[in-house]
Amino acid sequence: MTPSILITGGAGYIGSHTAVALMEAGHKVVILDNLCNSDARVLDRLRRLAGNAFEFEQGDVRDAALLDRVLARHAVNSVIHFAGLKAVGESVAQPLRYFDNNVGGTFSLLQAMERADVRHMVFSSSATVYGDPEQVPIPETAPLKATNPYGRTKLVCEDMLRDLQRADPRWKIAMLRYFNPVGAHPSGLIGEAPSGAPNNLMPYIAQVAVGQRDCLNIFGDDYPTPDGTGVRDYIHVMDLARGHLAALEQLAKRQQSITVNLGTGAGISVKQLVETFARVTGRPIAHRYVARRAGDVAVCYADTTLARATLGWQAEHDIARMCEDAWRWQSMNPTGYTN
Ligand code: NAD
Ligand code: WQD
Repeated sequence: MTPSILITGGAGYIGSHTAVALMEAGHKVVILDNLCNSDARVLDRLRRLAGNAFEFEQGDVRDAALLDRVLARHAVNSVIHFAGLKAVGESVAQPLRYFDNNVGGTFSLLQAMERADVRHMVFSSSATVYGDPEQVPIPETAPLKATNPYGRTKLVCEDMLRDLQRADPRWKIAMLRYFNPVGAHPSGLIGEAPSGAPNNLMPYIAQVAVGQRDCLNIFGDDYPTPDGTGVRDYIHVMDLARGHLAALEQLAKRQQSITVNLGTGAGISVKQLVETFARVTGRPIAHRYVARRAGDVAVCYADTTLARATLGWQAEHDIARMCEDAWRWQSMNPTGYTN
């Protein structure tokens, strides 16, 4: 039986794009998702893009019996673990839900992998583990600290994974720290479809452009940055998807665990992103300046040296392309997967 790669959370934003990249590279894929933050209609879109090279299992990563069945039935030989909750504000209000889902889910998955003798994992970590960074660009060796429960769940998972690989070198784990994933597949068939008002900047801009929202609130114009607005490292989701492929290949080839930043290394301000989106799409983006959002840092962008050296990977798409692809997705699907 041909081995499969298990993608937990594969119906979600980054997971669905990564599934396409893996299938295009000839891999067999099995997606496990409980659809708590995604829509089953993404699966039809995946079939249109990649044919029937994947299986879908609906369920929760905290369900041990289900995991045992899925790992055995599909001859899984490696896992990419996206499944998790990711809304910072919600994590402050409901910390136990976040620890249960993100830490409990990762723990349950690792136990099942151990039982099944599957020890290659790519884990979705986040630049949030750097907290308010002391220096930019941020190298992987920067101090780790969380500033909210969501970030703490990622740190706890990273610690658990480090302990595991120390205890048993058969475990090969890639911890990928994403910066700010944006954009969509160039077909416009899959993209980011947040439920309710978006927390993140790019989907908010896209929803203003398409007429779903009236006006973007820009959180703060008094940061110590060139134009006073926050600076981030936006990375095209297809570049991110390729990064996962590169990580899996490295785990198989070099048999070594890896912790790397996935970003472009470039800092872009909120104002620059809004202006680029308007220029590239020809849609004006109504906006107003409001107070800073609690917990936001001024500047955050990646040192990408290690990603280039260990994965032979670097981001290729620029900010204009990220806006173009985000807009294609949003204009073809004004209300996400529900239309
Ligand atoms: P997403 O919400 O679109 O995708 C996550 C998927 O996991 C969803 O389809 C959801 O239904 C599923 N899921 C959640 N809990 C589950 C569970 N217990 N069992 C089974 N399925 C479950 O989010 P995304 O943006 O694609 O993020 C994927 C991963 O990357 C997450 O772990 C997130 O924390 C991490 N990450 C995201 C960002 C970002 O800005 N999008 C940045 C850094 C890290
Ligand atoms: C980007 C910039 C905002 C919305 C978050 C998580 C982080 C990671 C990625 C998962 C900031 C400004 C935003 C709006 C605005 N996720 N902004 N108006 O905060 O860098 O990171 O997503 O791991 O953990 O914290 O991303 O897209 O929310 O904000 O002015 O309506 O846009 O202040 O400067 P952030 P973001």
